[in-house]
Amino acid sequence: MSFWRSSAQHPGWPRPAGPLGVRAGVVRLRPVRLRDGAQWSRIRLAERAHLEPWEPATGVDWETRHAITSWPAVCSGLRAEARKGRMVPYVIEVDGEFAGQLTIGNITHGALRSAWIGYWVSKALNGGGVATAALALGVDHCFGPVALHRVEATVRPENAASRAVLGKVGFREEGLLRRYLEVDGAWRDHLLVAVTVEEIEGSAAATLVRQGRAYWT
Ligand code: ACO
Repeated sequence: MSFWRSSAQHPGWPRPAGPLGVRAGVVRLRPVRLRDGAQWSRIRLAERAHLEPWEPATGVDWETRHAITSWPAVCSGLRAEARKGRMVPYVIEVDGEFAGQLTIGNITHGALRSAWIGYWVSKALNGGGVATAALALGVDHCFGPVALHRVEATVRPENAASRAVLGKVGFREEGLLRRYLEVDGAWRDHLLVAVTVEEIEGSAAATLVRQGRAYWT
């Protein structure tokens, strides 16, 4: 009974996604877990300059927010949202190692069947196709197990690398949201980008493979 309720109400959780091979290694998405705290904290504290210009402010300073002791509450909060069917909070793994996060949020069913998606990848792995593979796996997860129709994302116009990632996976620009999010000390414009299931030819991951950007493992 509980399994039936769980899978019927929260499709796609806690199912992992992947693997998909890229230049940097083999990419997988799997649920966040409590023992991710040490790696999460180490990377997020060391790579503040790489991450902070693109992430929404929370009102808590960076050091406190990313202390290892903060992770249990963050992780439990994400998993609670996932159990309610509102989020799919993944860790991005490369060759089995913690490499970043990909989060599907604000999942809405019914006639909208939509969600947003966001991600970050450790600087040490940048340029190896990791975010592109993770995003393709995330989009396929949304249109497959989660049964969504539309996935959207917001990105700062200045974030050329993330815009390249979104473009490679097939997201198209829908407009500019003025002073949309408080990021890095100011209200920043964001581009709204989206993709619907009709625009993905079967699978975003398979499209990357066809284009020579990724390979099946
Ligand atoms: N101008 C144009 N293109 C660029 C630039 C640049 N300045 N820098 C990188 N690129 C391109 C790369 O050439 C590559 O394209 P290619 O494969 O065709 O050569 C692409 O951007 C990056 O693709 P990946 O290698 O798949 O991405 P990566 O694993 O390096 O991760 C990411 C990119 C996620 C933006 C990472 O740098 C990161 O985490 N940055 C900080 C946090 C962040 O910006 N997150 C995204 C917020 S927006 C959102 O979540 C929707």
